Amino acid sequence: MFAARSAFSTVGRRAFSVSAQQNSKVTVLGAAGGIGQPLSLLLKLNPRVTELALYDIRGGPGVAADISHVNTKSKVTGYNPVPEQLKAALEGAEIVLIPAGVPRKPGMTRDDLFKTNASIVRDLAKAAADYAPDAKLLIISNPVNSTVPITAEVFKSKGVYNPKRLFGVTTLDVVRASKFISEVKTTDPANEEVTVIGGHSGHTIVPLLSQSNHPSIDGATRDALVKRIQFGGDEVVQAKDGAGSATLSMAFAGSRMADSLLRAAQGETGVFEPAFVESPLYKDQDCEFFSSKIELGPEGVKAIHPVGKVNKYEKGLIATALKELAANIKKGQEFVKANP
Ligand code: NAD
Ligand code: LMR
Repeated sequence: MFAARSAFSTVGRRAFSVSAQQNSKVTVLGAAGGIGQPLSLLLKLNPRVTELALYDIRGGPGVAADISHVNTKSKVTGYNPVPEQLKAALEGAEIVLIPAGVPRKPGMTRDDLFKTNASIVRDLAKAAADYAPDAKLLIISNPVNSTVPITAEVFKSKGVYNPKRLFGVTTLDVVRASKFISEVKTTDPANEEVTVIGGHSGHTIVPLLSQSNHPSIDGATRDALVKRIQFGGDEVVQAKDGAGSATLSMAFAGSRMADSLLRAAQGETGVFEPAFVESPLYKDQDCEFFSSKIELGPEGVKAIHPVGKVNKYEKGLIATALKELAANIKKGQEFVKANP
């Protein structure tokens, strides 16, 4: 069922059998949406998830009733949009995924979503800080470059911020990159891994093809491939023609990220995923948050490794990305200061 790198790897299955005693409650805020529904279904199929809490401003209990009939062990509960139910959905969660918010329509940038999604994410982050301060928080809602700093500011204001547990989900960028490079090289995408760094929008998405299996890709082929990886989201937005953005591939990517965190929490070592986290890598260039390949551990972020060797072309891409990223981060931070 799972193409490319399986959502639940063979290594993972073995790891699960020795640590099946663990209780892992996973909460999805925005569970009845385009991403929320398939994401919740994939989480229901994950044997590491023992309890699934599905919350939305509309339709949470319906989606939960439907998914609860899937004959895997986990318990599924739907929650209505009242404060005590949001509290119950969050309490005891090991992982909280947030895909709540509006998606793009053709012609929009992710930053155009800020005016609607900033306050949605701020308010859900407040609830998460109150009721699940120790959970690993996976922010999917766009613009990720700003919604992650918003969440960090909210957690700081409540005195519960731990940068090791806050992740902007950029997994879809590497999923796309491996698929797109395999189309160029006529290879199996499962064997392709492309490091993608930066942020999650247009020019802030920086694929490092020099570190891939095909470092010699150059010229027009390279330019087209980099552009496709940077603007892959637009391809889906245009094809959906007003009906939203990527939902199914995003559900796959979000489920993979959650599974990687659960595997790392259950003691598996050598678990790496890209994620937009508080990072020292480009802090001196006003980018307090940066996406790169992260080593995951029981605590969440175990290590942020250096970006490694990049070529002149990639240095140019990084320089362009950092300017836009710094502005996106600042916008999120200032939003919370002005609208606590
Ligand atoms: P959608 O409109 O289909 O679903 C969003 C859901 O959020 C809806 O069910 C809605 O009721 C719910 N919601 C809105 N406000 C809420 C609140 N305050 N509390 C709880 N639920 C709330 O949208 P979608 O296609 O699922 O996309 C959701 C978000 O994910 C968008 O912002 C989109 O841009 C983003 N996205 C991010 C990535 C990524 O790679 N990080 C990929 C795809 C989409
Ligand atoms: C994506 O990359 O598919 C998402 O960020 C959604 C979008 O707006 O493109």
